[in-house]
Amino acid sequence: MPLPATLSLLRVLWRREGDLLNLLPANAYKVEAGWLGWSRRSILIVNEPSEVRRILADADGIFPKNDLMTGAVEPLIGDSIFVSSGETWRRQRRMVAPAFSNLHLETAFSAMDAAIDDRVIALDKAAASGADISIDLVMSWLTADVICRTVFSAPLAHGVAEDVYDDFKIFERSAAHVELKRLILSPAFEDIPQHTHVLTACKRIREHLGTMVDPHLRAGADFKDIASAVIAARDPETGQGFTREELIDQLGVFFLAGHETSASALTWAFFIAATRPEMLARIRGEIDTVCGDGPVGFNHMPRLTYLRNFFREVLRLYPPITFIPRVALKPCEIAGHKLKRGAMVMIAPWTLHRHESYWKDAQVFDPDRWTPERAGEMTKDAYIPFGLGPRVCVGAAFAGVEAALILARLLRRYDFDVHDADTVRPAARLTTRPSDPVRASLKRR
Ligand code: HEM
Repeated sequence: MPLPATLSLLRVLWRREGDLLNLLPANAYKVEAGWLGWSRRSILIVNEPSEVRRILADADGIFPKNDLMTGAVEPLIGDSIFVSSGETWRRQRRMVAPAFSNLHLETAFSAMDAAIDDRVIALDKAAASGADISIDLVMSWLTADVICRTVFSAPLAHGVAEDVYDDFKIFERSAAHVELKRLILSPAFEDIPQHTHVLTACKRIREHLGTMVDPHLRAGADFKDIASAVIAARDPETGQGFTREELIDQLGVFFLAGHETSASALTWAFFIAATRPEMLARIRGEIDTVCGDGPVGFNHMPRLTYLRNFFREVLRLYPPITFIPRVALKPCEIAGHKLKRGAMVMIAPWTLHRHESYWKDAQVFDPDRWTPERAGEMTKDAYIPFGLGPRVCVGAAFAGVEAALILARLLRRYDFDVHDADTVRPAARLTTRPSDPVRASLKRR
């Protein structure tokens, strides 16, 4: 039975707000799978965890990444790891994954720390002057800076990196809107051209990325960053490395996949910590016990268990990737629903993580549900903020360490007083963001 959505659909189109959450009817949070109302192409939203695993593991090659999404990002990142499939993807994954090993993570940790040092200077000034900050903007800048420093050893304030950041904003805004319109109005596999200004922004971003890659490619260059690790990677079968264009594709992915996602999660984490004093007190108590008065170090990470559970719970109720879209390449059946070729299969961490059949007190924000004593409450494969199966996020460990370090350092240093906390609402654009900026004032502790 289709989930009734026509009214919400008209509202979303009318307001041009690009928020997909408004398209979700109430029973999207209750069914195993259901059709998502009216659109030119059929869209099945799938919650049932074993079907979610079957689709994301995709052993039979029926459910590749969705053509709408791959079309939207192709001018920016080509046929790179985030969107490719089959043998192309397998080769890329083999070559990219080692750059995110624990060894590289420890090196990345000091680059993350340096990015926070810079932000602390700006935040101290805001605290001293009483100026408001927008938590989203602070997080967006900080996580973009972390990506630039860990991937290219260049701070974001460096002119080229800042240009990449600005052009990415143009791309993201337009891509979210174009994607929503296509989702609703376009038939499957239709090739729809992007706006010229977006293509121009993509071209500029690629040129900038090239400028940052080139010093790494020069003979004798010795950077200890993610770009160098990806440049050094060789395909075990052919012995070949990535070409310059392929490097731009792959390194562009890290910027695309790795900064707004982390910024989204951190924005919610700071918002929740600021509005739940009892949880904030536990986080701070743990940091004091584990780190004392000294700096927060890489070796402290495994022992910040409450902070980790708090962040896990943020990713459950506010998963940055709201929807993980796939397309059916052949007629098939999912949870009793028959799909034609070209049907869109929408796996939504947003609905799955809030589904009352798979979570005890699904709507309650409760970091302690992640303690080992309560492991029995969990439903297998119902928690997928980083995806599932072979295409699980390659940067998941990186994102966990980055978030823990940023939260520990900033929550220890400042009180955040969020203004109009009651009016903060989630919206799904490219990531799950607050519908309006979350404004706050800061006080040094
Ligand atoms: C909280 C932060 C993050 C979240 C929630 C997140 C979430 C995800 C999800 C859900 C996927 C799977 C998408 C799909 O199956 O269609 C994914 C893939 C990916 N992510 Fe992340 N991500 C985060 C941070 C990062 C970071 C920091 C990086 C790199 C610096 C990164 C790089 C990637 C890449 C390269 C892929 C594609 C992997 C593949 O297809 O083999 N992500 N991410």
